[in-house]
Amino acid sequence: MFYWDNAATTFPKPHAVRKAMAQALMRYGANPGRGGHAMAYATSEAVYRCRETAAELFGADGPERVVFTLNCTMAMNIVLKGLLANGGNAVISDVEHNAVLRPLHALSTQKHVTYTTVPVSLDDPAETVRRFEKAVTADTRVIVCSHVSNVFGVIQPIRQIGAIAREHHIPFVVDAAQSAGVLPLDMVRDNIDFLCIAGHKGVYGPMGTGMLLTSGRYALPSFIEGGTGSRSMDPRQPDDLPDHLESGTPNTVGICGLYAGMQFVKTVGIAHIYERELAHIVAVYRALENTQGIQLYTPCPTAGRFAPVLSYNVAGVPSEKTAALLSEAGVAVRAGLHCAPLAHLKMGTQGGGTVRLAPCVFTTEDETQKVIKILRQTAQKALQT
Ligand code: ALA
Repeated sequence: MFYWDNAATTFPKPHAVRKAMAQALMRYGANPGRGGHAMAYATSEAVYRCRETAAELFGADGPERVVFTLNCTMAMNIVLKGLLANGGNAVISDVEHNAVLRPLHALSTQKHVTYTTVPVSLDDPAETVRRFEKAVTADTRVIVCSHVSNVFGVIQPIRQIGAIAREHHIPFVVDAAQSAGVLPLDMVRDNIDFLCIAGHKGVYGPMGTGMLLTSGRYALPSFIEGGTGSRSMDPRQPDDLPDHLESGTPNTVGICGLYAGMQFVKTVGIAHIYERELAHIVAVYRALENTQGIQLYTPCPTAGRFAPVLSYNVAGVPSEKTAALLSEAGVAVRAGLHCAPLAHLKMGTQGGGTVRLAPCVFTTEDETQKVIKILRQTAQKALQT
């Protein structure tokens, strides 16, 4: 099978990740921060190493500013529900995932919360920034932007959008589900207050891992209260991070895998990963634009403007049908709406969705050529049946 569904979750995981998780069950089998013995201390250290690596990789000001979550969606829920607890307006882009849209919708039905959707420009990042600037009002409590659309791969000018948030003294939240590990991210340089990360995508950790990194500039109410292994006589949730936002026994095996995944990304190099993956996507784009009956929605991906995620359709054929034919031919992709209705509405693909292609660090040129051949054959087959 040629796995080109890496935007949903990367597969396979690096050998080092699989090994780290297997070893964690043996070496770090105690409860971190909740045992007075050597293995509990060693487990705490393993968890701490993961925080340190994440802080370093994403420019957070210290390991304690790294909060472990189940996934990127959970990180986003913690932030949005915390920042908008007393109501207010959120300014978001029009390519946000349901991880942003649904919490905001839920908040808007329960509290005095509104959200303003800013149409991002596909060809002019400066125009996108101007539109964000215009959307901010006195009631705006947060700006949220996906670094990369999980459907169309468009990169947003987060640093400049973050600068607007700074000027207005409001927090800037970045959904980095599709960019962490693929594009450089630095919380300080990019003016980010809350960085939401999926552990199982571009940083090659296992599913069930995610992170919320905070600049520390804005406080959040606790989201889940309980045992932290600290200040145990106090019935109040500790104020210090990460305990303030983490309770209960953590996913140590997943965290060890996530640590190994981030080390892997550091070793290979984010710039190298991006360059390689984009080259595969450009090769596919060039082949598809010359294939009869193929519909593409974006310009040919260029460095700095697009991440290695490409959507297409065979004209008149439901995306699910193309995906099923591709699966039969040995290519794994995701079709449909990709949990991102706003992005599909923007591009006019909300009816049938799109077929999405996403390579990973392990994709080879030879594989890409084979996949291109299958994509073309499948398109002809889909048009004929
Ligand atoms: N959000 C993930 C995707 O884009 C699962 O497929």
